[in-house]
Amino acid sequence: MKKNIVANLIMFVLLSVFHFACSLVTSKQAISVTPQNVGSFEGKLVTEYTLTNANGMQVGIINYGGILTKIITQAKDGSYGDVLTGYENFDGYLQKGNPYFGALIGRYANRLAKGTYTIDSVEYKAALNNNGQSLHGGVKGFDKVIWEARTLPGDSSIQLVYLSKDGEEGYPGNLKVVVVYTLTANNAIKIEYTASTDKTTVINLTNHAYFNLSAGSSPTIYDHVLEIKADKYTPVDSVLIPTGALVEVKGTPMDFTSPKKIGKDINKVPGGYDHNWVLNKTDSLKEVANVYEPNSGRYLTVATTEPGIQFYSGNFLDGTLTGTKKGVVYNKHYALTLETQHFPDSPNQPGFPSTILKPGETYHQTTVYRFSTK
Ligand code: BGC
Repeated sequence: MKKNIVANLIMFVLLSVFHFACSLVTSKQAISVTPQNVGSFEGKLVTEYTLTNANGMQVGIINYGGILTKIITQAKDGSYGDVLTGYENFDGYLQKGNPYFGALIGRYANRLAKGTYTIDSVEYKAALNNNGQSLHGGVKGFDKVIWEARTLPGDSSIQLVYLSKDGEEGYPGNLKVVVVYTLTANNAIKIEYTASTDKTTVINLTNHAYFNLSAGSSPTIYDHVLEIKADKYTPVDSVLIPTGALVEVKGTPMDFTSPKKIGKDINKVPGGYDHNWVLNKTDSLKEVANVYEPNSGRYLTVATTEPGIQFYSGNFLDGTLTGTKKGVVYNKHYALTLETQHFPDSPNQPGFPSTILKPGETYHQTTVYRFSTK
């Protein structure tokens, strides 16, 4: 009798382990990749890879700019919608004034004052493209180049590789950048960046996805509820260069330490939010922000290894972009970005964490955008 119980127990444990292993395999296999040619750029084919998981979530990535072209997720009522801004066709991304929709940003994300910085007593000039400053890597940043793309084994990841040449856009050193986008079974997009250089350089990589979690039902993000786990931010001057100070958010419109509607204080910030928050956490991958859109019930959490996050409320969207998805007019404050990063202008700010990368070192950054409903 006792023997039987033990035998049954062993059988039960074995079966459970077997079922668990099967479920892991199934959830992995359920993610598929569909490549499709969508155009060409500088004589090279542009391919869109669509990752789909078992829940029906879809993520689109193109090898031009490593751009996230779509994120289709479920709302509370079970319907699917695309929460990213973008265009109907690839050509849309080539239009003048495309504000970095969904793109990988580098070599230096955010602003460098007058594009000037010094490494080991040598002054470098990054290409200027924004009010006399250098923004998001200069005139032709990582968002405007073709990356070498391939599907990684397991079908849930796309790897993108770009070699940025010594001197490109005013940055020293041949820099090899590898970015891996993974769609997980639990509706997260993981972005892992690594890079190495053959000369000391500066580096700050991010992704510039714009989210409207209502998937187009709401023309602004005022009702989105945002939390940023940061007690401080870095105030900026008139051309959006940090003053160097780290200022407490408490009691100011910049305070998102507990969830707050974006519309609540946005009018108190001239133009809207376009600032870097100093995250409370230390180096490891931690949740640093979340956004909730009450009508759809969509909830986005952001985790990162980075020390800062730029919350930009789409202040410069002005309804003039053409070929947009479904012809939607992207007006001011239609969508928001949460760009995980090192602080703007760090190479000129001795008080900010360093953005120097030396030969022999490996740059790492990981960011996870996870979608759910509540
Ligand atoms: C910057 C904005 C800029 C926008 C470009 C954001 O990361 O902070 O100032 O206008 O990118 O679309």
